[in-house]
Amino acid sequence: MVFDPQDNIFMLAGPVKIHPRVLKAMNTPSIAHRGPEFTEVNRELRELTQYLFQTKNDVAILSGSGTAGMDAAMANLLDKSEKALTINNGKFGERMGQLAKIYGENIELKYPWGSPPDLGEIEEILSKEDIKVLALTHNETSTGLTNPLPEIAKLAHKYGAILVVDGITSVGGIDVPVDKLGIDVCITGSQKCIAAPAGLALLSVSKKALEAMHDKKTYYLNLKKHVEKLRDGQTPYTPAVHLHLALLEALRMLKEEGLENRIKRTASIAEACRAAVDALNLELLPDRKYASNTVTAIKYPEGISDKDIRGRLKSEYGIVIAGSQAPHKGEFFRIGHMGLVQFRELLATIACLEVVLAKAGWKFEKGAGVAAVEEYM
Ligand SMILES: Cc1ncc(COP(=O)(O)O)c(C=O)c1O
Repeated sequence: MVFDPQDNIFMLAGPVKIHPRVLKAMNTPSIAHRGPEFTEVNRELRELTQYLFQTKNDVAILSGSGTAGMDAAMANLLDKSEKALTINNGKFGERMGQLAKIYGENIELKYPWGSPPDLGEIEEILSKEDIKVLALTHNETSTGLTNPLPEIAKLAHKYGAILVVDGITSVGGIDVPVDKLGIDVCITGSQKCIAAPAGLALLSVSKKALEAMHDKKTYYLNLKKHVEKLRDGQTPYTPAVHLHLALLEALRMLKEEGLENRIKRTASIAEACRAAVDALNLELLPDRKYASNTVTAIKYPEGISDKDIRGRLKSEYGIVIAGSQAPHKGEFFRIGHMGLVQFRELLATIACLEVVLAKAGWKFEKGAGVAAVEEYM
């Protein structure tokens, strides 16, 4: 059967499956972005974004993908005389470091893909250097690893650093209580755990971060302007209006389910997925203690290729999963299970994974993966 982009089981680590309610919300004629109707949309979006981030801080919604949010945070907070500390244990931590280097001076702590950072090394740098910004990726999507945010947040506070967190694949799927953890800037993207279309970056910004920002270094991405305007239900420039409408519906759905319930549901699907990995004699990429609840990264056994598994899942069974990124292309695959993914999709994915693994010659007890998932249902 030819792969049908309109009808498949979509298990990427973002973008994710979008509910028809969210799609329908965009199916409307243009709305004046300065008119009262859109002001109301923005007011509700502001409240729901604060709910999502578990914060009373200001928030901003930028028309741009998650990287625009990361760029905005670093560009506003750093100048060439100021230092950042970033943690690189995957593609997105690396990106945070690249941004910090463009705008300021950066010290990068680098670890192998799948390994957590060394808290002692973080503390050592914080204690010796004048670090203005400590920035990290909470959930490293490229490796399926969740970094120990509460412990790192404590270190940032102990040494007075501004804490910037890329929560792009954690916020809305893993608990990220911004106020409780004292996160100064938290960033997420519309296309991940919120399950809206790609194209918007959401940020929470603390008073401390706002006061530490440079006013004249950015124009479109000036975060102060964005948060101040949103207090009045406005945006500084013409926003991606229809994406805002979709985001509003997706956040309403998240609130209907309840943030806590969504996080719990995501965790139990992730546990089931990890149990299936064990049952199929496969191995997780990250250190198990840090395995992510929104994306599971699984090593390819010796002799089994990405084409055998990911390729066949898509072409023969219409199931879309993610591969691995450079410099580890072809070494592992990733199953995304955030947003609206349910047990039924995970079951189908694991059942078809069993079929393609068996065809590729991998040995395991037939049905063991499916049975492992069922234990959690
Ligand atoms: C953890 C993380 N950070 C940053 C990004 C970049 O976001 P975007 O592709 O929306 O710019 C991604 C995207 O996958 C991500 O997973």
